[in-house]
Amino acid sequence: MSESSVRDFYDELAPDYHLIFRDWDASIAHQAQVLGGLLSARLGAGPHRVLDCSCGIGTQAIGLALAGHEVVGSDLSPVAAARAAAEAASRGAGLPAVAADMRLLPFKPSAFDVVLSADNAFPHLLSAQDVRAALVGMRRVLRDDGLLVISLRAYDDARRAKPTATPPQVSETPDGQVITFQLWHWHEDGERYDLEHFQLIPAQGTWDVRVRRTTYWALTRRQLTEFVAEAGFTDITWHTPASSGYYQPVLTAQRTPSLL
Ligand SMILES: C[S@@+](CC[C@H](N)C(=O)[O-])C[C@H]1O[C@@H](n2cnc3c(N)ncnc32)[C@H](O)[C@@H]1O
Repeated sequence: MSESSVRDFYDELAPDYHLIFRDWDASIAHQAQVLGGLLSARLGAGPHRVLDCSCGIGTQAIGLALAGHEVVGSDLSPVAAARAAAEAASRGAGLPAVAADMRLLPFKPSAFDVVLSADNAFPHLLSAQDVRAALVGMRRVLRDDGLLVISLRAYDDARRAKPTATPPQVSETPDGQVITFQLWHWHEDGERYDLEHFQLIPAQGTWDVRVRRTTYWALTRRQLTEFVAEAGFTDITWHTPASSGYYQPVLTAQRTPSLL
C-alpha cells in the first residue's frame, strides 16, 4: 500500500477519528497519565521534549502537552496534524504539529528527549526497509539516552488466532450512537492483513455506512525488538497492558550514545 493511500485513509477519517473512542477526552487524559508515567519512570519527572511522530488528531500528544511536556506532533496526514494542533489549542495546550512521514523526520539531530509512536501507527510500515528507515530517523532526532516509545496491537496473539474482525465500538454522539468495527483479511504470508474500517452513522431511521481500507504488518514483539536493537537502541522493554495500564503492549528503548 502506498503512503498516499495511507494518508488518504487518515485524511478522510480525521474529522470522525474521535468517534473510535467511547469518550475521546477521557482517553486523552488516561493515555497521558499512563504514558507520562512511563516517561518519568525512565527519564525523571521532566518536563521532556517529546516528538509524537504519528500524532494523528492528538490523542496522546494533547494530554502530554497539558501535563507540561514540550510536545511537537507530526503525522503523515496533514488533515489529522492540523486537527491535533487545533484541538490542543481549544484545550489550552500548545502543540505545534506538522505533516511528515516518520521515515523522513524533518527535525534536527538530538532535538528530543522522547520519540513516541502510539496506537498501532508503526505497523503501517509494510517492509523491513521502511521499518529500518523510521527507526534510524527516530534515533537521529533523539538525544543520547533519549527514550523511544512505541505501542501496537497485541500482534503475538493475533498472529496465532488470525481474527477476522474486531468487536463493535459504540460512541455516543449528539446525533445518536456511532458504531465502529473492522474486518481483517490476512495475506498469504500470515503477517500482513488488509483492513476494512467500518463506521455506521445514524441517518433518519437508517445508517450511513462509511468504509475505508488500509494495510498493516502485524509485527510480533520479537520482530520489533530485533529491528529496534539493530537500529541502535538498548534496554528494550515490553510493558504489558497488565503492568502499564495502557491498552496495548508498549515498547520502550533507550538510544545508545553516539560514538565520537
Ligand atoms: C491508528 S492512528 C493513531 C493516531 C494517534 N496516535 C492516536 O492515537 O490518535 C495511526 C496514525 O499513524 C499515521 N501514520 C501512518 N503511517 C505513517 C507514517 N509513515 N509517518 C507518519 N505517520 C504515519 C496515520 O496518519 C495515523 O494518524
